[in-house]
Order: sequence, then C-alpha cells, then structure tokens
Amino acid sequence: MIGLKQKIQESVQAIRNRTAFKPEIGIILGTGLGRLADNIQADTTIPYATIPHFPIPTVESHGGRLILGMINNRPVVAMQGRVHYYEGYEPQEITHPVRVMKELGIHTLIVSNAAGGLNPEFQAGDIAVITDHINLTSLNPLRGPNDETLGPRFPDMFQCYDPALIKIAQETARDLGIRLVKGVYAWLTGPNLETAAEYRYLRIIGADLVGMSTVPETIVARHAGLRVLGFSVITDMGIPEQLKPVDLATVLKVASQAEPRLTRLVSEVIGRI
Ligand code: HPA
Repeated sequence: MIGLKQKIQESVQAIRNRTAFKPEIGIILGTGLGRLADNIQADTTIPYATIPHFPIPTVESHGGRLILGMINNRPVVAMQGRVHYYEGYEPQEITHPVRVMKELGIHTLIVSNAAGGLNPEFQAGDIAVITDHINLTSLNPLRGPNDETLGPRFPDMFQCYDPALIKIAQETARDLGIRLVKGVYAWLTGPNLETAAEYRYLRIIGADLVGMSTVPETIVARHAGLRVLGFSVITDMGIPEQLKPVDLATVLKVASQAEPRLTRLVSEVIGRI
C-alpha cells in the first residue's frame, strides 16, 4: 500500500507536469459557488480524472476540475467540485486534494457549501460565514498512522475558522451591501436530510447550519497549518415546527440565486486577504 505522502507527491507531480503556477489561496467550490470559477483568469485547468489519487465527484451538480489562475490579482487554485462521504469515499480520500493544494503552496483555504439553516434569524438564500463546527459523524480524516511531516498527531482546533478572515469577510460584505449571517456548522454524513427531531437536536446542541461536507477538509487544513475561511449558502430552513418538504431542485435553485452574491463576496475577500 502506498503512503499518504507518496500519493500527495504523485498528485503534485501530475499538476507540476502541467504548470509551474504557484497558488497562495485554495478554494473549494461547493454547491452554489461553482461559477466563481468564471472569475478566474485561468493559467491551467486540469480535470480531476487526470490527476492520480484525486477523487472524482459522482454528483451531477459538482464539476471535477482543478483551476489554477488569478482572482483579483491573487494566485489561487480552485476545486470546481468536491466529493462527499455519502458518495462512498473515505474521509482521507475526500481530503486528499487539500493536502495537495498545501503542497502546491497555499497558506489559506476558502471552503463553501450548501447548508440547512437552523437559526430562526436566518432565511433560505442567506449566506453565512462559518465561525466553528461540530463533527457529528464520528469519522475523522486523520485516523490512522500520523505523518509528523504533514502535521501533529493531536492538532488543536482552537479558532479553526480564522477570526481575522471572518472579520475581513464581514467587513467586505458590509462594503458590498451583502447580508452575511454567521454560525456554527454541524457535519452529518447525509445523503438524507434531517428529521424534524434531528433539526431540533442540532439547534439544541448549538448548531446554526447543517450540511454534509467541509468539516473533514477543515480538519485536514488545520492539521496542515492552513488558515481556513468557510461560507455556507443556506438553501433550506430546518425549523422543526415549520418544516416543509425539500428536494434537490429547490436546494440547487436557492444556491444558484445566491451564487452571484457569494461569488462577488469571495472575489473581493480574496483581494483583501
Ligand atoms: N441538511 C443537510 N444538508 C443540507 C441541507 C440540510 O437541510 N440543506 C443543504 N444541505
């Protein structure tokens, strides 16, 4: 079995065979942010399928390309499309691209996702900046032998979403006139959405947002010493007393309505990091 380090190096080599571009900021474009890729002055675009060990999204709403280029005069690497645990991937596979982006040179990771809203002050369509997370899955991408050259055995999760970056996001949103709420994101595996009792429980334990991604990527990013900034598009509200049926079409529609706002916000934030 080949080790984590070798897999990272093989992925990096495949990318380096295509370009010497040095990104500083990594971006994971989840549901609702895929179009940010249109704002990148691309140097190189590489399909995941041509990078060894890169997991391929099986969900139609997620692309599968790595884009290296400039946004707002900053060198970035963006993942257009991500994979989730519910697709059958292991947490270590899901997070492999984060380690590869670190090796390419990034110091900061921006993650985005679609999430259910639990805080009654939120509305579907709002954008939230993630202030903290709760891992409810009992899964962990760091399980197994630890390679000390990648990060510590017991990484601290103190302020794992960088307070200075959250502040920049809030100031930028204010300047652009974009409503930005904030909250704690709870990770569940999905793929089903939650029952009313589960939404109630999530609210009681302190979550404002719930979704099926982002937490494993953040854990690995912090393990690697990256600064993390996270955004959720709230696609549906999980208020137990007011629950309505939700389908993927609704989730995608609300996400696409928020997409131009989140794209503007993230592009401007990148210029200010
Ligand atoms: N729950 C979990 N994940 C989600 C939701 C939700 O309500 N909405 C979008 N992703």
